[in-house]
Amino acid sequence: MKINHHYSELQDSYLFANIAQKVKVYQEAHPDQHMYRMGIGDVSLPLAPSVIAALHQGVDDQAHQETFHGYLPEVGYQPLREAIQNEYAAQGIDLDVNDIFVSSGASDELGDILHLFDRDAVVMIMEPAYPAYVDANVMDGRKIIHYDGGVLPKPDPDLHPDLIYICSPNNPTGSVMTREVLKEWVDFANATDAVIIFDAAYKAFIEEDLPKSIFEIEGAKTCAIEICSFSKTAGFTGTRLGYTIVPHELVREDMVLHDMWVRNRTTRTNGVSYIIQRGAMAIFTEQGKKEWQANIAVYKQNAKYLMAALDEVGITYVGGKNAPYIWLDCPNGMTGWEFFDYLLNEVQIIGTPGEGFGACGEHNFRLSCFGDPEDTKEAGRRLVALLKK
Ligand SMILES: Cc1ncc(COP(=O)(O)O)c(C=O)c1O
Repeated sequence: MKINHHYSELQDSYLFANIAQKVKVYQEAHPDQHMYRMGIGDVSLPLAPSVIAALHQGVDDQAHQETFHGYLPEVGYQPLREAIQNEYAAQGIDLDVNDIFVSSGASDELGDILHLFDRDAVVMIMEPAYPAYVDANVMDGRKIIHYDGGVLPKPDPDLHPDLIYICSPNNPTGSVMTREVLKEWVDFANATDAVIIFDAAYKAFIEEDLPKSIFEIEGAKTCAIEICSFSKTAGFTGTRLGYTIVPHELVREDMVLHDMWVRNRTTRTNGVSYIIQRGAMAIFTEQGKKEWQANIAVYKQNAKYLMAALDEVGITYVGGKNAPYIWLDCPNGMTGWEFFDYLLNEVQIIGTPGEGFGACGEHNFRLSCFGDPEDTKEAGRRLVALLKK
């Protein structure tokens, strides 16, 4: 029997278990205390009414012979692919509709897309990073370069990865790549035959003039795959849907990665539910857009409460403006875990210690803006009361 022994090389994901355990112990000792949950990476607001109506429509379609859908194309429902294509066109990005693959979410794709690459490929992960990037590659036994290049990392000419992960807006730091830095990565990847996996799960939070897609950058179609999600854009974390762009211009070792991915999808999946894809169509209507943007505005207001509090007490941070996360430097030289305990015990605020996203985050802490607005406002007040000298 030969099993994949690389699973034994995975680090225990003790972070969230540890947080849950500490919160449980605290709550048992203080059953009447309200907790302020600023650790969550999940949305808290419901789906937009237009999406709900379209989901219902999808169900009704399946009830009638004339509108019933059986298997759909594995690569996605064509009207949804066209809606995505139009959205990019409105941003000045010309995409071939065949390069858009509807998926059941970014997480699924971040794992599945690795099938295109050899297990000997060397992977660069810029840390702090979304932990799934590391784990998905450890499972396959790939060599990982843990790259600590600061908040806006630039390529290092001495390192030669085959695969480069870029997450922008970033989880956990909330920072966004500028066009200039992204162009450096695109040029680097093209010059070294590397492939960039660009995770744009949080692009809906960008409000400044910053790139929402790597395909805004000249040369990206010959070196990048973009992975997108409706989870944080439109609250689809539990509903599940996303899409991936694999440009047909992306060729490595005489293999067209787009054609490989078509072959992969048509073999390894039968696509995503018609009902969910029908629901997602509403994300792109004028009314639907207004509705999910109103939800994003709520999360952005949460970010403002927290940023104002941090500004008042003089804690340095990045993020919050173009992303739903704030990445702060723990005060007084505390580690993330020490700050976690301090906030939990003193003001009942729950955040995430930075080391959960890589060793370089030991003295950092992540606050999420997806929580309840009243709780987030109160958490801001509590932070000020606790930390104001
Ligand atoms: C950076 C990043 N990519 C991908 C995902 C997963 O998205 P999905 O819900 O589409 O699987 C998350 C979820 O938190 C994330 O933070």
